[in-house]
Amino acid sequence: MREKIKQIEAAALEAIGGAQSVQSLDDAGVRFLGKKSEFMELLKSLGALTPEARPGVGALINEVKDKLENAIRAKKIVLLQAAQHQKIEAEKIDVTMPGKGIRRGRAHPISQVMAEAKHIFFRLGYELAEGPDIESDHYNFDGLNIPPHHPSRDMWSTLFVEGNLLLRTHTSPVQIRVMEKRKPPLAIIAPGRVYRRDSDATHSSVFHQLEGFLVDNKVTFGDLKGTLTEFLRQMFGKEKKVRFRPSFFPFTEPSAEVDVECVMCDGKGCRLCKNTGWLEILGSGMIDPNVFSGVGYDPEKFTGFAFGMGIERIAMLKYGVDNIRLFFENDLRFLEQF
Ligand code: DAH
Repeated sequence: MREKIKQIEAAALEAIGGAQSVQSLDDAGVRFLGKKSEFMELLKSLGALTPEARPGVGALINEVKDKLENAIRAKKIVLLQAAQHQKIEAEKIDVTMPGKGIRRGRAHPISQVMAEAKHIFFRLGYELAEGPDIESDHYNFDGLNIPPHHPSRDMWSTLFVEGNLLLRTHTSPVQIRVMEKRKPPLAIIAPGRVYRRDSDATHSSVFHQLEGFLVDNKVTFGDLKGTLTEFLRQMFGKEKKVRFRPSFFPFTEPSAEVDVECVMCDGKGCRLCKNTGWLEILGSGMIDPNVFSGVGYDPEKFTGFAFGMGIERIAMLKYGVDNIRLFFENDLRFLEQF
C-alpha cells in the first residue's frame, strides 16, 4: 500500500509540475485527489488494514495529500502570475513608437484668395453685403441698365431657372439690392458664386466673383483708379504696373478694364499674356446715371464707381494654375500645395 501511495504521489507531482494552464492543473487535482480518485479509494480501504498498520498508512496518506494540495496551490500561483504577465505583455503600449500624425486641414485656395481680396477692402473701410444665387432678371439685368432684348444681355451666357428667375451671372445685382435699401455714402463689397453657360480650361459654369462699389457725392474716376491700383498692388505685389483700358459695361459709364503687368514674364510678353505683357483682372467704371435713377438716387447729387473680378482667374494667375477645373476636383494632391 505504501508503495502504491508513493507511485500515486510521483505521478501526481509530475502532472502538477507539467500543467501548462490553470485548467489542466485543476484537471490533475480532480484526477489525483478528487472523490473518485485512486487516492481516495485508498483512503476508503484503510479499514481493511490491521489496526496496527492503519495509523501509519493513514498518516502517510494525509501527508501526501497535504503535499499534493500544497503543490497544486503553489503551481496555481505560478500559472496565474504567468497568465497575468502574458496579458500585460500583450497589451503593452510602446510609448516610444512614432505617433500617427494628424493631417492638418486648410482653406481651399479659392477661399484663401477670396479672404485675401475681402480683407484688402475691409482695410480700406468697405463693408460686406450678400445676395441670392437665384436672381430675378430685374436685379441681374434691368436694374443694371440692361433692358430686355438688349444685345448687351449676350455678354452673359445665362442659365435660366423659370419665369423671370435665373442663376445670377455676376455679383453686380447686389449693387441694386443694397442701393434700393440704403442711402449713400456706401462702400460695399459683395462676394459670391456666379453661374454661366460656359466651360473650358479657363471657364467654369460655376465660379466666384468679388463685386465692389462706392457711392458718395464727388466720387471721381481718380478715386476708382487709386482704389483699384492699391488693391492690385496688395494682391499681386507693389512693383507691378497697373493699367486702365477703356471698355464697355451697360451699368458703368465710362467703363474700364484693369490690367496688371504679366505675373509670368513681368511685362516682357509670353504665352500667358498672349505677348501683350498685360493680364486682364477686373471690370470697372463710374456707375451709370441710369442705375442711380433706377434705385431712386439723384444722379446729379451722387457719383460712384463699381468693379467686379473673378476670383478663380486671380487664383490661377497668382499660383500659376492653368486649368480652372483643378479648383473643383478636390484632389488633395493639388489642394495640399496651398
Ligand atoms: N459684372 C461684370 C461681369 O461679370 C463685371 C463688372 C464690370 C462689374 C464692371 C462691375 C463693373 O461692377 O463696374 O462681367
